[in-house]
Amino acid sequence: MKKLILAAAVALFASTAVANKMSLDNGEEAVAYRKATFSLLAANFGDLAARVNGKKAFDAAIVSQRVANVSALANMPWEAFAVSGSDKADSEALPEVWSKADDFAAAQQQFLKAVAELDAAGGDQKKLEAAVGAVGKSCKACHNSFKA
Ligand code: HEC
Repeated sequence: MKKLILAAAVALFASTAVANKMSLDNGEEAVAYRKATFSLLAANFGDLAARVNGKKAFDAAIVSQRVANVSALANMPWEAFAVSGSDKADSEALPEVWSKADDFAAAQQQFLKAVAELDAAGGDQKKLEAAVGAVGKSCKACHNSFKA
């Protein structure tokens, strides 16, 4: 019985609180969604960079988990920019995201290509270091043109 009540509570929570606060049907919520994905990306990528650059211990299992997380998250922010109203909501995204949509798409492709190379680097610290550098450059390149 307790399990049933818990399951019902979880289902209710998922359908109201979570779904309402971060859906992709509303501009402001889409902004919260993409900011959350960027925050998770930055946390995982920052820790990964510190480990391959020698600022933190190079722990192969953690490094592999970070690379997997970055790869999964790399695909997530973009659809939220297409949600109607998300261009008008309070956000650090510059108007060029929409007025220069082809350039913004190209910056995403550049980033995803660098992330694919990161994924392919395996456990080799030297290869990982180069790949992390390329990913970091692609984050910056996009921010320079598209983020306030
Ligand atoms: C193709 C463009 C692009 C790429 C690539 C990109 N970003 Fe961003 N990033 C943005 C834009 C645009 C925003 C502003 C989003 C908003 O405020 O709606 C942003 C916001 C952020 C934020 C702020 C989130 C918040 O809570 O306000 C962080 C942190 C961030 N990016 C980190 C990264 C990191 C780390 C990478 C690379 C691993 C990266 N970004 C790659 C475009 C990009």
